[in-house]
Amino acid sequence: MSRLTVTPDTAPGTPELCTEDPAAIARALAEIDVRFERWDLPVSVDPEAEADVILAAYRPHLDRLMGDTGAGAADVIRLRPGNQAYPAMRSKFLDEHIHTEDEVRFFVQGAGNFILHANGRVYDAHCTAGDLISVPAGLKHWFDAGEDPHATVLRIFTDTTGWTPHYTGDKISALFPAG
Ligand SMILES: [Fe+2]
Repeated sequence: MSRLTVTPDTAPGTPELCTEDPAAIARALAEIDVRFERWDLPVSVDPEAEADVILAAYRPHLDRLMGDTGAGAADVIRLRPGNQAYPAMRSKFLDEHIHTEDEVRFFVQGAGNFILHANGRVYDAHCTAGDLISVPAGLKHWFDAGEDPHATVLRIFTDTTGWTPHYTGDKISALFPAG
């Protein structure tokens, strides 16, 4: 189940909000300009299917989203146990960073945590299948799907150069591991 925990950035371990209510999650994240939605999961989509099949299943949602954001493309990334490249990929996004374009992700399967740092708080959004999250350009955050992920995620983007993390140099993420 999706979950949001909000904690003062000076007080790890003392959350002021913890909710599994999607509407409450969306409201809290909207305060820091992060978009959160739950999409209906087409029952026919197999997370192991070809990328084109998965993208076609979500095409109506994607068209609406791209109309809103102006993003032009989408692809499918799979995080699987035993993926040799995963540890390096994981560490790349574990330190606090920003991007030059919005980071827009939809979870087809599995889960991962977007951890956002704004307004003197740390917002740990545990996203699960059916969740859309859009992190605006310039918002400090980090991401973790754990040591042994099994997730299928859509990436909606304008230009892949936007995926490059620009690190803030703040080591705060070590104090707020994904919950
Ligand atoms: Fe990121």
